[in-house]
Amino acid sequence: MDEKEKGKKRKPVKLAISGKGGVGKTTLAAILAYLLAKDGFRVTAIDCDSSINLPSALGINEDITPLSSLRHIIEERVKLPFGAFRYNPKVDDIFEKYSAVNNAGVRVVVLGTIEKGGEGCFCPENAFLRAVLRHAIFSDDVLILDMEAGIEHLGRGTAKGVDLLIAVVEPGMRSVETLGRIEKLSRDIEIERIAVVVNKYIECDTARKIVKRVSESYDVLGVIPYDRCFVEADMVNIPPYEVCDLKPFKKIKERLFDICTP
Ligand SMILES: Nc1ncnc2c1ncn2[C@@H]1O[C@H](COP(=O)(O)OP(=O)(O)OP(=O)(O)O)[C@@H](O)[C@H]1O
Ligand SMILES: [Mg+2]
Repeated sequence: MDEKEKGKKRKPVKLAISGKGGVGKTTLAAILAYLLAKDGFRVTAIDCDSSINLPSALGINEDITPLSSLRHIIEERVKLPFGAFRYNPKVDDIFEKYSAVNNAGVRVVVLGTIEKGGEGCFCPENAFLRAVLRHAIFSDDVLILDMEAGIEHLGRGTAKGVDLLIAVVEPGMRSVETLGRIEKLSRDIEIERIAVVVNKYIECDTARKIVKRVSESYDVLGVIPYDRCFVEADMVNIPPYEVCDLKPFKKIKERLFDICTP
């Protein structure tokens, strides 16, 4: 069975990718989005990070309007008279209008800055972004959320329906220590499963021990070696999947379906 045929038989996965700054979340999000689109899935990748860089990792250099900046539309669709809000505003036309599609067919959406006015703040922007995410979670597309800290400020249960939270770690103690925090985040936004990808791996005794320790507590989806190719691709603004070795990512992609299939 070729890859496209296999894709047709599989349920589109919904993924959130988290981890400490600079560990490789955007690189992983972009490459998985690319590979899954190649498999024949319709893929939507959402940049939930306030420093927007997922579009360029996917070869899109035009500006994409961040959804949080659509003040006029948010006012019109979310606000009701006397300070009340609509909890389920219309958002089904939003992705089409405020996104870009790359040459592999991946649709890229930028969420923009999320108001952090307290846990689950129900300001109009958050109600709108929440509705947008729910819409993406219930669509037939593969969904990939590239998250910085998280989307916990959109309120509990926003990501309910996301199959898996992938925590990206480097084989260093500072990065591994963030795993507890990521686990809490996954509970806050009600993502039930969490798995780990080790990135920038350099073969040595200590790194081996760290991976072993992590794999005692977490499902390790894969280990990606440190490779200068990623840094060089980033320097010249070429999507990493055009020039770097994708073998470890292909294995990770296959494991995703094992884990996400109930
Ligand atoms: N396996 C790897 N080997 C070497 N360099 C890598 C690897 N993976 C990613 N990088 C490089 O590390 C840098 C950070 O990667 P990336 O932007 O994907 O991380 P991030 O977690 O999204 O960062 P941020 O927290 O700033 O959003 C980039 O220059 C990228 O090319
Ligand atoms: Mg990033």
